[in-house]
Amino acid sequence: MSEGSRPHVLVTGGAGYIGSHTAVALHEAGFCPVLLDNLDNASIEAVSGVREICQEDLPFHQIDVRDGASLDKLFSDLYAQGTPLQGILHFAAHKAVGESVAQPARYASNNVGGLAVLLETAAKHGVNNVVFSSSCTVYGEPSQVPVSESAPFQTAESPYGWTKQACERVLTDHAQSLAGAHVALLRYFNPIGAHPSAIIGELPLGVPNNLIPYLTQTASGIRQKLTVFGNDYPTPDGTCVRDYLHVMDLAEAHVAALKWCKTQASTSSVVRAFNLGTGQGASVLEVIQTFERVTGQQVAHEIGGRRAGDVVAIWADPSRAQKELAWSTQRDLATSLQDAWRWQEKLGR
Ligand code: NAD
Ligand code: UFG
Repeated sequence: MSEGSRPHVLVTGGAGYIGSHTAVALHEAGFCPVLLDNLDNASIEAVSGVREICQEDLPFHQIDVRDGASLDKLFSDLYAQGTPLQGILHFAAHKAVGESVAQPARYASNNVGGLAVLLETAAKHGVNNVVFSSSCTVYGEPSQVPVSESAPFQTAESPYGWTKQACERVLTDHAQSLAGAHVALLRYFNPIGAHPSAIIGELPLGVPNNLIPYLTQTASGIRQKLTVFGNDYPTPDGTCVRDYLHVMDLAEAHVAALKWCKTQASTSSVVRAFNLGTGQGASVLEVIQTFERVTGQQVAHEIGGRRAGDVVAIWADPSRAQKELAWSTQRDLATSLQDAWRWQEKLGR
């Protein structure tokens, strides 16, 4: 299928970690992903990687989502060339929890302000299908696990968490105000791993905050030792529990969510939240042990103090996504860690 005959969809943050993998999944499903990114936290090589995997010169636009005039022109140009946008997958945002504490206004401006500009432009051009990157951070410390979509939001632990709650609210109000708006709020648990080709993956800048990039960098000798943040939590082995899902499973969930948006009645407005996770929790020590087993690499690690703001244990009840999106994870923790390691080996030291 040539680029021109595929339904075009906008992927904001398309050069980033999850956006780039989703672009591949969209292409595989017959869409033409139009990548948009300001390259604030990404490299143009990710765009080349997506093009290499898809074997197609997919469109890329270096635009900031807060730049309404450039967005407006992009939507108009796509319409004029006979490929109007069929939907938007909105990934573009700042995502570092610690940084958000130091720079709350920057996070509000980019994450909430960016969404607002995007929605105004989309409404003007009649683009009604929106898939949004939310996070299980909206739940805070859940009162029961697995957590379902009906669990109440807790007061946000960080300005980053607040932006996700605020964006969900803006999208909910937007859907109620606009006939025919179809919005999927995708609450990710912990995405990890990389495309099995190792052509694209996660590119953390500087010292990683997240467990998996820190772990793979330690195994490859870039970092001396991984610190396990606390082993005195009320969990089976004392370390925190999370729901780690493969980034390609997550990418495929976006395709399912987009299709869900497209099948909603054109006159009715709907907004629906979906948990995206495996439904299984794994502790920090289990992750380290699984990584060592499947890769044969040793991970130097020590037990340290707790990290401020960490939730003790959270994993998803993904049954709504299974039922309504016909989606479930296909790759297990071992596969996700193998793919993360293959990507790290390619990056080298
Ligand atoms: P990422 O930083 O790799 O990707 C985000 C991309 O958006 C980057 O390429 C960045 O350059 C771009 N961007 C940022 N602000 C922009 C702007 N104003 N205009 C245009 N482009 C802009 O992050 P990711 O891990 O791929 O996350 C994607 C989305 O998923 C984010 O909204 C994030 O909050 C959310 N999310 C991520 C995780 C996770 O663990 N990675 C978990 C839950 C939710
Ligand atoms: N951890 C360590 N050592 C490290 C890094 C992390 O022990 O060097 C532990 C953490 O304490 C936590 C677990 O590994 O128990 C996972 O930590 P991550 O930082 O990888 O992930 P989080 O669950 O803290 O946060 C992630 C994203 C957030 C998002 C949240 C929910 O980083 O942006 O998932 O989606 F909000």
